[in-house]
Amino acid sequence: MPSANHDTPKSSGLPRRPSRSQLDAAPKDYLTRGAPFKADVMVVDVGDGEMVVKDFSGRAWWRRLIGRLEVSRECRAYAYLGPMPRFPAFLGCVDKDALAVEKIDGVALARAADSEENRDRYLAQLRSAMERLGELGFLHLDARSNKNVLLRPDKQVIFIDLAGSFWIPPGRLGHRLLRRFAELYYEANLIKWETLLATGGDPRKDQAKPPRYVHGFVDLWRARKRLRKR
Ligand SMILES: Nc1ncnc2c1ncn2[C@@H]1O[C@H](COP(=O)(O)OP(=O)(O)O)[C@@H](O)[C@H]1O
Ligand SMILES: [Mg+2]
Repeated sequence: MPSANHDTPKSSGLPRRPSRSQLDAAPKDYLTRGAPFKADVMVVDVGDGEMVVKDFSGRAWWRRLIGRLEVSRECRAYAYLGPMPRFPAFLGCVDKDALAVEKIDGVALARAADSEENRDRYLAQLRSAMERLGELGFLHLDARSNKNVLLRPDKQVIFIDLAGSFWIPPGRLGHRLLRRFAELYYEANLIKWETLLATGGDPRKDQAKPPRYVHGFVDLWRARKRLRKR
């Protein structure tokens, strides 16, 4: 599991990942807590600055087991991407149950007060980040979620939550195929974000909710049509 090799040097100005004992002893400001199927996500400072820690250690044993796979996946995803614009810095795995990342000051992009005014700017940022991810053969499988894209006060869009990611590195069998799928997939993600940031608010919000994945498939279909026209 990547951790020691990816520890952030103190010179970066970022805090170091805490040990489990430091984490347990530190005061915590919870962003999400106690949901039976989710990690506890908290802001922690063990002496050299605030960071966000995602921790499954408080879950039931079976969820903790799945959580370990998620933590391992998310740590490896950050390690694969390396330091990357529009992503928090990865500070390291605390242990098998938890990982630490840079704290992003900001709000969910979908709730930002200026999301209409600066819509094109934010969509352009989302597009350039997704294009880069596509080139790397990397699918962020949760980038449609309005909770997983934040907006910093300096108007920079930041993606979080890499637990559900999939990638095939360049040169590996399947990479080129994945890139083609990524193009379609990210175009569909962008259609979702165009909807979320629509003038007057998300038009889907007040509609009757269709079964799960219906919007996803509709967006994929629209993305396919869009790409064909290019
Ligand atoms: N690096 C971060 N900086 C600021 N807030 C964060 C950060 N990571 C997570 N959060 C907040 O915690 C919430 C849950 O974290 P997330 O990584 O998305 O976990 P989950 O798997 O539970 O969705 C996010 O929606 C966001 O509000
Ligand atoms: Mg999330």
